[in-house]
Amino acid sequence: MNVAQKPREFLKHDDSTADTQEEVRLHYETFPYPLVNPEDERKRLSTTVHEAFDRLNHFCYEGRRDFNQPFRALFAGGGTGEGLVHLAEQMRGRKAEIIYLDRSGASLAIAKKRIEIRGLENVTWIQESLLNIPALGLGTFDYINCSGVLHHLPEPEAGLKILADALSEKGAMGLMLYAKYGRLAIYPLQEALRLINRGEPDLQKRVDNAKAILSHLPPTNWFIQSPPAFLQEIRSDAGIYDLLLHAEDRAYSIPELYDFLETAGLNLLHLFHDGYPEAGNLYDPATYLQDAKLREKVSTFSQRDQHTLAELLHGKIYKHTFYAAKHVPKPPSLENIEVIPLFGFDVHDGAENISDLILKPQEGEGHLILTHPGTKVTATLKKTANLAALFMQIDGCRPLREILRRVAGDTGADLALLRQEFSTLYDAFHHAGWMYLRYPESSAVIYPLELQQRIFPPKDNV
Ligand SMILES: C[S@@+](CC[C@H](N)C(=O)[O-])C[C@H]1O[C@@H](n2cnc3c(N)ncnc32)[C@H](O)[C@@H]1O
Repeated sequence: MNVAQKPREFLKHDDSTADTQEEVRLHYETFPYPLVNPEDERKRLSTTVHEAFDRLNHFCYEGRRDFNQPFRALFAGGGTGEGLVHLAEQMRGRKAEIIYLDRSGASLAIAKKRIEIRGLENVTWIQESLLNIPALGLGTFDYINCSGVLHHLPEPEAGLKILADALSEKGAMGLMLYAKYGRLAIYPLQEALRLINRGEPDLQKRVDNAKAILSHLPPTNWFIQSPPAFLQEIRSDAGIYDLLLHAEDRAYSIPELYDFLETAGLNLLHLFHDGYPEAGNLYDPATYLQDAKLREKVSTFSQRDQHTLAELLHGKIYKHTFYAAKHVPKPPSLENIEVIPLFGFDVHDGAENISDLILKPQEGEGHLILTHPGTKVTATLKKTANLAALFMQIDGCRPLREILRRVAGDTGADLALLRQEFSTLYDAFHHAGWMYLRYPESSAVIYPLELQQRIFPPKDNV
């Protein structure tokens, strides 16, 4: 559907009596978000942290998920298809039933076009409010994605409860909620724009007014100090509307996030450091503490308090991207020698740069600091004698037992020592989000470049 050709809808009411849900509906009909060109599917696979099989399997399914078995997934507030496309592509040719649900017909049309261009047939389309899920008889799901949606509901707890009820006992959710402190600069500007736009029913004119304000913000305005991601957002009308003109928008501190999940009987499984290059491990307070005694003290804190402290010390975390579930799955561990280490999605396709750093002749003692060329995330790695040899054996299919056996065979090194060295390597990579584990009964990961090129071979991309 070409949104521009639709007759323009206007808000009919005065802001003082605004039905915010009607405003939110019209907002996403007019400015589907995020802005995506379906034709770009031919050029690249857009990936999301939640949906990547490496993390999903590691954090949500104990590293034992065979994605060839039947799998039911729901995208609640699926938007223009981010996340959906990634999961549907990984599930190509498997027994997946994926349901996309969103209130916005314009967003649905874009997501659908993306899936059609990819020739995928594993998605069912529903234009509905997620608040009506109980009436739809959809059954339960192994996985539910609801990213950037619940904080736009008048009662987010009601939405979360509905999703939790639709989640199977061993299922998991991929959620993203706005974070409080990183968004502090936004709310005064939202308030200013509400005043400026009072009585203005035309959404495009609201955006134009916002642009006029943004182009001459005084240097004292908090928004000038915003994280780069916000400055990126205001390059498009859809981004401006979503960030600065939203009718329903709330943000959560870490304690509020924990309390929120508790209202629906959900546990926090893992928080991602998605999109924050400056910190190795965003939610670990040790990242921001140099003092050894303080580090030690903080390491005895509960997980909730550690996350709380990390958020307060960082100061500008603007979104919480995480998994939640009714149960607490036990992530795979190096303690089991049958476990298979694999490179994370972010690092695999550009891995030459990382391996270059590791495989270079290592001089002297000390640490290697590796910087991901794309995301700029860093990992600090202790230099050990067999680091390069161990690294070379990781192929996403070889169990730890076999990796150690091979390196011991080549170098004559002691197995226990090698295991220790591997653990150092894994800890650094796993903290950076570059390495995960799986057990042999789970499916091997297919990386984004391969997923894309098996459908759109490089020759078609010229
Ligand atoms: C910020 S967008 C996020 C889209 C997508 N989840 C993503 O991460 O890219 C929010 C989406 O939630 C949808 N939405 C808002 N309220 C909803 C509701 N009550 N039921 C279903 N969808 C809703 C909007 O139409 C919009 O597409």
